[in-house]
Amino acid sequence: MLTVVDHPLLARAVTTLRDKRTPHGDFRRTLGDAAAILAYEALRSVRTEPTEVETPLETTEGVRLADEVVVVPVLRAGLGLVDGFVRFVPEARVGHLGMYRDEATHRPVDYYSNIPPVRDARVFVVDPMLATGGSAAGALSHLKQRGANHLTFVCLVAAPEGVRRLEEYHPDVPVVTAALDRELDDKAYIRPGLGDAGDRIFGTQA
Ligand code: PRP
Ligand code: URA
Repeated sequence: MLTVVDHPLLARAVTTLRDKRTPHGDFRRTLGDAAAILAYEALRSVRTEPTEVETPLETTEGVRLADEVVVVPVLRAGLGLVDGFVRFVPEARVGHLGMYRDEATHRPVDYYSNIPPVRDARVFVVDPMLATGGSAAGALSHLKQRGANHLTFVCLVAAPEGVRRLEEYHPDVPVVTAALDRELDDKAYIRPGLGDAGDRIFGTQA
């Protein structure tokens, strides 16, 4: 299931992130703000259980999170979304999956994996860009092999091609995004998109 989060502050953040004049410091900060709004929506699926809390005046009922939360950024660009999640759930475990897209074939290449226990946890795989969907589909397959059984994929900008690929290969995984864009171009860049997310976050573009 695809959820396109509709919020005026998120739409404004996406506009800032699309703007080619936004320097990398502002890009990184704005992406963090957008990630917090996406996290707020995606974390709705986390269950709570009752607990008691003492106010200065009396004891009353409250809730605590019943689920373990795991956030898995797809390196490198996914790192830009992690703080948006852990600011709400500081106890979340963070796994890392290293993948880059081969520029010629557009296929994902794995280079790193360090994943905490994921079975029965609420696992949020985060990456700003869902283009062909190759990286996301590969990341989700990897986590399923590790036992993940409650996965959500969270991105900032999705292309229809990537959404279709996830619906085909991972129909059980909800996808949360801030924007569903028009198409991929012949270099598999999202249009209108925001360019190379990793380069824009880390300032590595020429
Ligand atoms: C980007 C992006 C995704 C991937 C999306 O990463 O962050 O991981 O491309 O493309 P896909 O849906 O076609 O697989 P990139 O390969 O540029 O690596 P980086 O994050 O290290 O810059
Ligand atoms: N990766 C990016 O960073 N941007 C795109 O448009 C496609 C893949």
